[in-house]
Amino acid sequence: MRKKIVAGNWKMNKTMDEGLALASEVVSMVKDEVKNNALAVLCTPFIELQGVAKLTEGSPVSVGAQNCYDKESGAYTGEVSVPMLKSVGTKYVILGHSERREYFGESNAFLASKTNAVLKGGLTPIFCCGETLQQREKGIHIDFVNNQLTESLFHLSEEEFKKVVIAYEPIWAIGTGVTASKEQAQEMHEKIRTHIASKYGKAVADETSILYGGSCKPDNAKELFACKDIDGGLIGGASLKARDFVDIIKSF
Ligand code: PGA
Repeated sequence: MRKKIVAGNWKMNKTMDEGLALASEVVSMVKDEVKNNALAVLCTPFIELQGVAKLTEGSPVSVGAQNCYDKESGAYTGEVSVPMLKSVGTKYVILGHSERREYFGESNAFLASKTNAVLKGGLTPIFCCGETLQQREKGIHIDFVNNQLTESLFHLSEEEFKKVVIAYEPIWAIGTGVTASKEQAQEMHEKIRTHIASKYGKAVADETSILYGGSCKPDNAKELFACKDIDGGLIGGASLKARDFVDIIKSF
């Protein structure tokens, strides 16, 4: 059975006090209300990781970072390494979010190296892929997404690949209020799974969790999560409100 995961991507939001308050609200709501076996992850800004990790200890909620550097230590001013993330209780790391690719020029090759670093550190990468509206309109979206996976992940051994979580996030749906329809999302998730199967075999593909991201909210999560190949969500805006985030976790 592949894991069901709902990960909140807070992006560059919430000061320390606000972040700790949000995390404690999520933890108590999850404890009281969530009866399914979905895993909840809070991907906070770097500075809040330690506080949120302490606060979530012993709860069903885990902590994730939104980025990392691919080197372990050294003269890389401003960067944060996987061993550092691990030392404060981080379990997951989002890699290749479209905002990192667009604003910080992260390439598929750089993301391959970051993936290696995250796996070497024993953390779980949440690897993001997704196309622009233009690519979708040209009909090249499936090839584009498959190529992102090939170039950043397909050098991994089977054992390594099994530890990766994929998040499909169509760029045109991120923060826009426009969600992919359940048919569009399911189609891409199925294509991604088929592509994984072509490299690692059907058994590995069937065990890979593939999350959907892009304007996922309490009112559309249920129909998205009901799709055969959608195993949860990567949630931006709606993860900033405990009520909305927990309602999404309850949507399985
Ligand atoms: P959104 O963001 O839910 O605000 O669209 C999703 C994401 O960027 O991970």
